[in-house]
Amino acid sequence: MKGKILVTGGTGYIGSHTVVELQNSGYEVVIVDNLSNSRADVVDNIEQITGVRPAFEQVDCLDYAALEEVFRKHEGICAIIHFAASKAVGESVQKPLLYYRNNLVSLINLLELMPNYAVKGIVFSSSCTVYGQPDVLPVTEDAPIKKAESPYGNTKQINEEIIQDTVKSGSPIRAILLRYFNPIGAHPSGLIGELPNGVPMNLIPFLTQTAIGIREKLSVFGDDYHTPDGSCIRDYINVVDLAKAHVHAIARMLEDKQDEKVEVFNIGTGRGLSVLELIHAFESATGVKLNYQITGRRAGDIEQVWANPEKANKVLGWKAETSIEDTLRSAWNWQLKLRERGIQ
Ligand code: NAD
Ligand code: WQD
Repeated sequence: MKGKILVTGGTGYIGSHTVVELQNSGYEVVIVDNLSNSRADVVDNIEQITGVRPAFEQVDCLDYAALEEVFRKHEGICAIIHFAASKAVGESVQKPLLYYRNNLVSLINLLELMPNYAVKGIVFSSSCTVYGQPDVLPVTEDAPIKKAESPYGNTKQINEEIIQDTVKSGSPIRAILLRYFNPIGAHPSGLIGELPNGVPMNLIPFLTQTAIGIREKLSVFGDDYHTPDGSCIRDYINVVDLAKAHVHAIARMLEDKQDEKVEVFNIGTGRGLSVLELIHAFESATGVKLNYQITGRRAGDIEQVWANPEKANKVLGWKAETSIEDTLRSAWNWQLKLRERGIQ
């Protein structure tokens, strides 16, 4: 065993894929999740994929005493990957205090507990949302942080600052901030993936639900942007590739390879795809025809953003590998599996 890693939000979408990759790489995992946006049977599915059952504690990161008990019970946790957060942009506008409390206090609790239990460092789930609409593309890690478009986005910016300030103040911990671009797809086994929560706001779950007939039509939000085909451009990153970036980050941290106490990496492919290109890639990768129509722009959308992932490629030794076709097939396979399981 290489070390014991606490994964908060480990039954969630990105967390579950990361637990799989950590276990496949020989790490021991303790999951903390309050199941507010995931299901307990994810633990069974992780076991089915890896042959190893991770420890699972149904605990709320807001509950300091319960969280402390996890560190006592699972002695020797050497690093944390902190996924647990509320993540729906629209909901955060309606319920800002819920988002500020959940996303900020969870992190603060962990940062307070870490030195007391000799935890070396934390990998934090940040987002390309911190860049807003970048002035220069592809965007690098030193691009200016723009005023957040939503309370959710603001929690990512503030959490990055909380970590920076904590380390500056002399806390012995290390941190790696991973700024994800748009994570999509599912594990090739079809055993874990993104669980739908009501009507999806994100493109891929809406697209696959349309393809399978749950939704009638996919709306393409705008074709009058200043992009080659007029639709918005994003950097869609395969979730298994994204999960592997966390394993690289943990190894770098535990092997004392960090150049700075807090490091920041873009985790993207380096390739921007428009909404229309993505739809056509889905159709040709799966052979499934999609019912879609162009509608008006969605308020608050960024026109175009994609990553310059060179720092992650060179320094972290990580690179996105999966083709967009394989990724879209995995998303479709997951949608089919959900129907088999009677979930949607
Ligand atoms: P998810 O909702 O699938 O996973 C988050 C998990 O955290 C869920 O299982 C939920 O039950 C749990 N959780 C939430 N609050 C908790 C709390 N107080 N205590 C314990 N558990 C709690 O989301 P995801 O897509 O896997 O996102 C993981 C992280 O990555 C989040 O921090 C998110 O903001 C960030 N992120 C996600 C995206 C994306 O597009 N999915 C992009 C950039 C960053
Ligand atoms: C992608 C593209 C839409 C739905 C959001 C958060 C961001 C990050 C990832 C966490 C856009 C278009 C979408 C639809 C469409 N999360 N679209 N029809 O907006 O890039 O980012 O999730 O940190 O913070 O804001 O992702 O999947 O919602 O949209 O045309 O029904 O698809 O306009 O161009 P987005 P998305």
